[in-house]
Amino acid sequence: MKKILVAYYSRSGFTSAVAREIARICHADLEPIKDIRGHGQGGGYMRSALEAALHLSTTNRRVQHQPDSYDLVIIGTPIWCWNIASPVRAYINSHRALFKHVAFFCTYGGLGQGKVLQDLEALADQPAVATLELTDQEINENKHHEKIARFIENLDRNVQEQKSASVHSILTSK
Ligand SMILES: Cc1cc2nc3c(=O)[nH]c(=O)nc-3n(C[C@H](O)[C@H](O)[C@H](O)COP(=O)(O)O)c2cc1C
Repeated sequence: MKKILVAYYSRSGFTSAVAREIARICHADLEPIKDIRGHGQGGGYMRSALEAALHLSTTNRRVQHQPDSYDLVIIGTPIWCWNIASPVRAYINSHRALFKHVAFFCTYGGLGQGKVLQDLEALADQPAVATLELTDQEINENKHHEKIARFIENLDRNVQEQKSASVHSILTSK
């Protein structure tokens, strides 16, 4: 595996815990996505819900790592109202053209993971090399480590497969 960036947004710590574990195992750089207004205090829950449900973007702080310097960008989001969290939506909207390969993970209470993983691929405009979904309960009960390990095993293999497929299509196109 080559150079990897883990970009994530976390309001209450679940996505951050997963992002940090993935980054530690993969020796990846971490990009915590931060929006200027924040979603914690004073109506943050309602605003998070509305922004996610209406597919609104946020204004994020400037990123620390340029995604085009990485072979793979792993993007993590909490699920908000069956949708991508608004700061992650804004991050992908701003950087989509710079992703060479993407993988996604989401944390959630128990609903909406299939839809959100599909939405992430559509928003990034490319298929994920691997995906991972983890409930808060799995994380609280320390059941996430094995799923993270499997996700990382898939990454390297699938990046190699995608590379060969794109080289093949370049060689065979007229
Ligand atoms: C505004 C809001 C909406 C949420 N909507 C959903 C949802 O539709 N489905 C679900 O399973 N969990 C939902 N959750 C729970 C979060 O996805 C879950 O707790 C997640 O792990 C939080 O990640 P974080 O701690 O990194 O912020 C919602 C949480 C918030 C704050």
